[in-house]
Amino acid sequence: MITVDTISSMKKKGEKIACLTAYDFITARILDEVGIDIILVGDSAANVVAGEKTTLPITMEDMIYHTKVVARAVKNGLVIADMPFLSYQVSVQTATYNAGRFLKVGACGVKLEGGAPVVDTVRRLVDVGIPVMGHLGLTPQSIHKYGGYKIQGKGERAAARMIDDARSLEAAGCFSVVLEKIPRDLAKKISETISMPTIGIGAGPYCDGQVLVLHDILGLYEDFTPKFVKKYADLAAQVRRAVEQYKDEVKQGKFPDQEHSFD
Ligand code: KIV
Repeated sequence: MITVDTISSMKKKGEKIACLTAYDFITARILDEVGIDIILVGDSAANVVAGEKTTLPITMEDMIYHTKVVARAVKNGLVIADMPFLSYQVSVQTATYNAGRFLKVGACGVKLEGGAPVVDTVRRLVDVGIPVMGHLGLTPQSIHKYGGYKIQGKGERAAARMIDDARSLEAAGCFSVVLEKIPRDLAKKISETISMPTIGIGAGPYCDGQVLVLHDILGLYEDFTPKFVKKYADLAAQVRRAVEQYKDEVKQGKFPDQEHSFD
């Protein structure tokens, strides 16, 4: 079984870390069977499962449900639950309670967004035994602050601030950090500066690992495809074809047939 120690040692050995999101039992089981190291129950469920425009509306109860069904499926990978907006920003105390709830339903750790403002929270969670993955760069819960899904960490000052944030998260006890939509050279610098593994998404090839949203790589989410997404399948087209064929056969009385019925 993969633990946070396994993830740390992978960086030391130069072994890349493969991470994907999952939100349900069936896909989580497939990811785990294939050997995905970290299975992230992302708050991107708000977009790809619930059809929301941002990740802001998803609730603790929604995320607990997704985490519970994913954790039920996973036997080997490290299940990390994304803490939803407002579940960790209000106080260290509520953050600790909410993070603990994810461990109770089977997560091995939590992810939360931000640098300096969340350092005290990270320290407390780690102190009470809750592994934490950080998240820097384009943090989607701050979408209204950024005014769009823009690349982050551009320019010397912004880059230096992000390097400081990565150092602070490591010092507070994070076991890894997601770097989202930042220049590849900055991701390289951060990956070389800190000992904890960096997991990139839109951060180029020099991170210690990579994460993408499952529905994006499968070609299921058609609303918007960022430049950093590679589609490994076109499942939306396949699903459409299958459902159309089913509909036609039902309408034409071709299905169900003898083969799919009983004597
Ligand atoms: O919510 C999510 O899916 C994420 C990752 C893609 C990093 O935060």
